[in-house]
Amino acid sequence: MATMTSEVVTRTTTAVNVQNVRKVYHRDSLEIVVLDGINLDVPEGEFVALMGPSGSGKTTLLNLIAGIDRPTSGTVIVANTNVATLSEGALAKWRSRNVGFIFQFYNLIPVLTAMENVALPLMLSPLSGKQRKERALTALKIVGLADRSQHYPKQLSGGQEQRVAIARAIVTDPQVLVADEPTGDLDAKSAEEILNLMQTLNQEFKKTIVMVTHDPRAAQRAHSQKHLEKGVLLKD
Ligand SMILES: Nc1ncnc2c1ncn2[C@@H]1O[C@H](COP(=O)(O)OP(=O)(O)OP(=O)(O)O)[C@@H](O)[C@H]1O
Ligand SMILES: [Mg+2]
Repeated sequence: MATMTSEVVTRTTTAVNVQNVRKVYHRDSLEIVVLDGINLDVPEGEFVALMGPSGSGKTTLLNLIAGIDRPTSGTVIVANTNVATLSEGALAKWRSRNVGFIFQFYNLIPVLTAMENVALPLMLSPLSGKQRKERALTALKIVGLADRSQHYPKQLSGGQEQRVAIARAIVTDPQVLVADEPTGDLDAKSAEEILNLMQTLNQEFKKTIVMVTHDPRAAQRAHSQKHLEKGVLLKD
């Protein structure tokens, strides 16, 4: 049965809703318009590829969706939360529960084991150490690396490092995953494995995915492709 909370939650089937978003940087007297009126709707369960030339604003847009950054104007609603209205602290907490971020260069912490890296996002949760370990191991199993849990990043191949990073991204069971060129630093075979895994996360685990990629073959794995140019999303 549904319980009433003071929080107003609107249930929609939209996982990501970006409305009229502008992102402007200022350098000296120069105004740099990086995103110029972006509208993007990603339904729950969708797998979207975001393509576009270097400098077109792809990473900037992903960072807004992930709540790593805030828009200059416009709204970003992800998992039923208006990201721009949260305080820094609330945003960090929200992010750790609702979005998983996968980077091109994995961003694992070199002095932590695979297991410890995966468990990191759970530090903000009330789980016990034992529960955190169990969750991390489950995530490592999903990416097929349970047998590497005690390895350090430098003892893993690039593809394995990325799989650990994906385990870290899913360990809190977020609704939305964003990936910034997740196969950009990998050979063809490892890239293929990572894309298979992304597809599994989408199809079996029902994750909504927004993936930036330069690779048309990677983009074909997605349901739809969006093209960004000079801060504007092109019409489909
Ligand atoms: N903190 C910042 N201050 C000023 N300008 C920035 C900042 N971050 C990004 N930019 C500018 O915003 C533009 C878009 O950058 P962004 O990283 O989003 O591009 P991208 O599409 O991800 O490119 P790439 O394919 O090379 O990764 C670039 O012109 C960049 O110089
Ligand atoms: Mg980028």
